[in-house]
Amino acid sequence: MSATILDGKAIAAEIRAEAASAAQQLIDAGTTPALAVVLIGNNPASAAYVGSKIKACAECGIESIERTADSDISESELLSIINDLNNDASVHGILVQLPLPDHIDENSIIEAVHPDKDVDGFHPINTGRLVAGSECLAPCTPAGIPELISRSGFTTSGKHAVIIGRSNIVGKPMMNILVQKAENANCTVTCCHSGTPDLAVHTKQADILIAAIGVADFVTADMVKPGALVIDVGINRVDDDTRARGYRLTGDVDFDSVSQVAEAISPVPGGVGPMTVAMLMKNTVAAATRLTE
Ligand code: GUN
Repeated sequence: MSATILDGKAIAAEIRAEAASAAQQLIDAGTTPALAVVLIGNNPASAAYVGSKIKACAECGIESIERTADSDISESELLSIINDLNNDASVHGILVQLPLPDHIDENSIIEAVHPDKDVDGFHPINTGRLVAGSECLAPCTPAGIPELISRSGFTTSGKHAVIIGRSNIVGKPMMNILVQKAENANCTVTCCHSGTPDLAVHTKQADILIAAIGVADFVTADMVKPGALVIDVGINRVDDDTRARGYRLTGDVDFDSVSQVAEAISPVPGGVGPMTVAMLMKNTVAAATRLTE
């Protein structure tokens, strides 16, 4: 058996087109939606992610404002940048690319972003709303996963979803999204992490297995139930002398072996990554719509 490949690139293009049409409605009503992206330091992966977010904005008719600073910026200087963006009525979304330099407290920065402009969905107010099942800005990567599954013709309701990883960006919000009594959710959810003994005992129970670990090729075929849907959130750089840039990107799932047992699998690149950027566009237009109502 060879798995169906979940085409995140094509589905993300669909979602960007929907965001572009919603953005055009706002423009017609006199507001150009605008996203401010804050990039600190010179982490090449972060710079690449920010580049793709800015490119997507241009494609969707969303204005992007880039604020950059060296990695020695103080926490109070960064807080002041965020405060200015919070108070700027022409800015509807604010995203501070993570990780931040070690001397800056990430939680203080996340909590400084106004919750109504928090298009990353990381502010505790949005976390709380997500847990309560209220309308909120939800974190883009986990929010994109039920979209990827449902728009590929698969369902989530009644399925056992097993998540590997408990990060605030993916694992924890993923649990809270999939457990909701809602369309494209309604799962029984298990969250495994580095403290889980006998990981494979759990992963083999998964109808939907979501890998967000950050270790290349961690999930192997023997950990997967035949017929499962496998979602690979990992983006790992692995040295590769055969590539001009000296590395290749690979996920947390050993694609070659797992695609022999899974019913469907998301590839890396071209799976979850483009969905994250598309959901950011959707969140930005949603924030702009709410802020101008
Ligand atoms: N770093 C890794 N993923 C993300 C994300 O979704 N948002 C931000 N702001 N930083 C990240």
